[in-house]
Amino acid sequence: MRFELGDLRAWSPANPVDVIVSNATLQWVPGHPDLLARLVGALAPGGVLAVQVPANFDQPSHTIRAELAAQAPFAAYLGGVAVPSSHDAGTYLTRLHLLGCAVDAWETTYLHVLAGADAVFDWVVGTGARPTLQALPEGPIRTEFARRLWAGLRAAYAVGPAGVVLSFRRVFFIARSPE
Ligand SMILES: C[S@@+](CC[C@H](N)C(=O)[O-])C[C@H]1O[C@@H](n2cnc3c(N)ncnc32)[C@H](O)[C@@H]1O
Repeated sequence: MRFELGDLRAWSPANPVDVIVSNATLQWVPGHPDLLARLVGALAPGGVLAVQVPANFDQPSHTIRAELAAQAPFAAYLGGVAVPSSHDAGTYLTRLHLLGCAVDAWETTYLHVLAGADAVFDWVVGTGARPTLQALPEGPIRTEFARRLWAGLRAAYAVGPAGVVLSFRRVFFIARSPE
């Protein structure tokens, strides 16, 4: 097997491929439904594009970050910072249908049972909130942002009898290109 590091916005294989799998990545590309035509175009006839994207951006794990990012003094540093986003399963299904594909699209809400009162904070600082924290200057401003995010997440995700339950909706689609 051979691996190449690249930017999927510009990726184009030398020859048509049978399968493209993308897990939890397209959400980082703004306007990524526009990328689907290129990805389908890279498939051999009858080839398959299989994608999963998170779809939980309306949850406190993301909205608390967004609320803080809009406030002073943080907002001054965060214009244009990368934030993940995705669309309903139907949006992807329609786009891919119009590209001539046979499509299965669905969504599932996972209940992640996490251990420890700070589990959601630890999760988001390594994922959705990472570019935000990196865009803030090291020192008191970044520390204060992290502290408020930590406090907000602690309040939003209490430790229950089973631990911290993180409700996490995900959208999936599988598109087969025309033969
Ligand atoms: C949540 S991780 C998922 C990683 C892996 N696919 C998995 O399932 O464990 C998101 C990944 O998207 C990658 N990513 C974000 N924007 C990208 C782009 N424009 N081109 C290629 N990869 C990108 C990041 O580097 C990161 O590895």
